[in-house]
Amino acid sequence: MSLLPAQAVLTPDEKGLGCLLIDLGGGTTDLALFYDGAIRHTAVIGLGGSNVTHDLAIGLHTPLEAAEELKISYGCAVADRIEAGKMVEVPGVGGRDAKPIEQHVLASMIEARMEEIFTMVYRESKKNLFTDLIAGGVVLTGGGALLEGVVELTERIFEMPARIGVPRGLVGLRDDVEDPRYATAVGLVLQSREQKDSDRVEEPHLFGKISAPMKRWFGEFF
Ligand SMILES: Nc1ncnc2c1ncn2[C@@H]1O[C@H](COP(=O)(O)OP(=O)(O)OP(=O)(O)O)[C@@H](O)[C@H]1O
Ligand SMILES: [Mg+2]
Repeated sequence: MSLLPAQAVLTPDEKGLGCLLIDLGGGTTDLALFYDGAIRHTAVIGLGGSNVTHDLAIGLHTPLEAAEELKISYGCAVADRIEAGKMVEVPGVGGRDAKPIEQHVLASMIEARMEEIFTMVYRESKKNLFTDLIAGGVVLTGGGALLEGVVELTERIFEMPARIGVPRGLVGLRDDVEDPRYATAVGLVLQSREQKDSDRVEEPHLFGKISAPMKRWFGEFF
């Protein structure tokens, strides 16, 4: 995992006490374990938010775009939070009629995949004997951190406090940049500001990782 999101979202306390940063991306879930102010272990899990969306598309027989929309608008990582009997419309594939399903069912499918992802992250941390050291808890970034109920699910699996990490540390940061999805991008700005002009070799590579909407506000910082 790159250190960029960590630079933007972790407090000095968290880095000192020890914490686990989980970046919930589309294609991958990246983790970084901090202890004593330094990064001690990183790993990448080959599952992410797009797997959740795929599960919904397949399980609910709906197009991918509809599955993504359902996840964002009605999804929840803790199915028990959804009142029984609440229904949502699921668009059909290939012009078929939309069908109602219980929102609880949607959330159960999401919960199953998110639980799998967090369990893999937990095992990876445990394997490296760091779980007992992370008194600072778990910090979530990336688009998946916006999923309803994701903090609760994290706390259940890791048995420690979790929070969503929104990027901080840039003076003049626009409000709409305070979003866990932009942690990597803001980390990049922070790092670039720290770097001397002589040490900018990596930048083109790093820029490749930043998605188009973020590039819009990037101009403000360079
Ligand atoms: N409000 C939301 N609720 C649930 N999931 C969301 C929400 N917003 C975005 N996501 C999910 O977050 C994922 C994308 O996250 P992010 O933008 O951090 O990924 P990325 O950095 O482009 O991908 P990667 O890190 O894998 O390269 C997608 O799977 C998307 O469905
Ligand atoms: Mg990412």
